[in-house]
Amino acid sequence: MTNTWRPVVRVVAAATVVAQVGAAQTPTPSVLPEGTGKAPFLRTCGGCHGPESAIAQLKTPDEWRKTLDEMAANGAEATDDEWTDILGYLDAHFSLILVNTAAGKVLAKAFGVPDAEGDAIVRYRDEHGRFATADDLKNVPGLDATTIESRKDRLVF
Ligand code: HEC
Repeated sequence: MTNTWRPVVRVVAAATVVAQVGAAQTPTPSVLPEGTGKAPFLRTCGGCHGPESAIAQLKTPDEWRKTLDEMAANGAEATDDEWTDILGYLDAHFSLILVNTAAGKVLAKAFGVPDAEGDAIVRYRDEHGRFATADDLKNVPGLDATTIESRKDRLVF
């Protein structure tokens, strides 16, 4: 990734809010998928509330950006490159996949496929209309069925 991304820090009120979260939980990194961004994710997002609660809920890529802005405001610290990698990790593994509206690049990241395949999904959608089921997605040329199956819980139609 060439562009770095960093959260916009709006408020700094960590001390008071952190107290409400309570003690940090014991991390169980073994259940988390491997990949770029895992290490900075564990380091940065496991500090105040444990990494599990950070990913308790799937979010859209836009929502993840917003959450990272909020966590930076809460006091989470990382370098620009680490923020970019954390966001990439969350988008790749814990994002809701808006199959009928997302851009090709976003879909490619979420499905873990090259950009060309993300574009193929968009092209298929433009030509055939909205996807209604996971099976519809399997008609996209080049998109592997197991890739879709393994992300079934994340698909939003
Ligand atoms: C400095 C302490 C701190 C760090 C570090 C931190 N958080 Fe949080 N987090 C909080 C606090 C405080 C709350 C509860 C209040 C709130 O929602 O802001 C919270 C709540 C959350 C929530 C639930 C609320 C929501 O917005 O959905 C998520 C998800 C979350 N954090 C994700 C993350 C991620 C991802 C990271 C790593 C970039 C991270 N946190 C790092 C302090 C922190």
